[in-house]
Amino acid sequence: MSKKIVILASGTGSNFRAIAEAVKSGSIDASIRCLVTDRLCPAVDYAAKQGIDFYVVPRKNSAMLNIRVLSEILHGADLVVCAGYLSILPASLVAQLRGKIINIHPSLLPEFGGRGMYGLNVHKAVIAAGKRESGCTVHYVDAGIDTGQIIEQRYVNVDEWDTPEDLQQKVNEQELQLLPAIVQQLVKQEEAVKNKLN
Ligand code: GRF
Repeated sequence: MSKKIVILASGTGSNFRAIAEAVKSGSIDASIRCLVTDRLCPAVDYAAKQGIDFYVVPRKNSAMLNIRVLSEILHGADLVVCAGYLSILPASLVAQLRGKIINIHPSLLPEFGGRGMYGLNVHKAVIAAGKRESGCTVHYVDAGIDTGQIIEQRYVNVDEWDTPEDLQQKVNEQELQLLPAIVQQLVKQEEAVKNKLN
């Protein structure tokens, strides 16, 4: 039976699109159960155009309500992918999903992660620190912010003339390759473990 992926996103959704395209082309051997967002955003427009189910779970809802709604939606997912999701997930939910929930972050963690480190803030901080290398990280989600076990990273050079926007673009090009590859790797891995147990 096809593995079910749920994607959480809040923004442009380029990473969500990369996964959706990889599923469509068959390079990810799974299906997308739905997109979850915390706001109306381009990711929702894409899901609607592609006929992918989506749920908007506004971050200003009460925490209790969101825990109930999100656990309902995420129940039974084989893999949950945070692809630019800007809300912090309730700790109880993260604990339930341990080992099945991953995130992509636009820096070489553990550097430039944590509260406030999202979007251009990350790339501004990398440039301000005079780094000559940056990249992206796919990691498991744990109770902290950007602290879970690292699965894989991709590197890019930071040139002295790079603006934060230039760096964001370079890193994004790597993200769009890395994330679908890791999703496929994890889907296959889970299948292999299951087959071994059967
Ligand atoms: C990416 O840079 C990702 O690393 C971060 O949020 C951004 C999402 O970009 N977590 P997009 O919405 O997928 O284009």
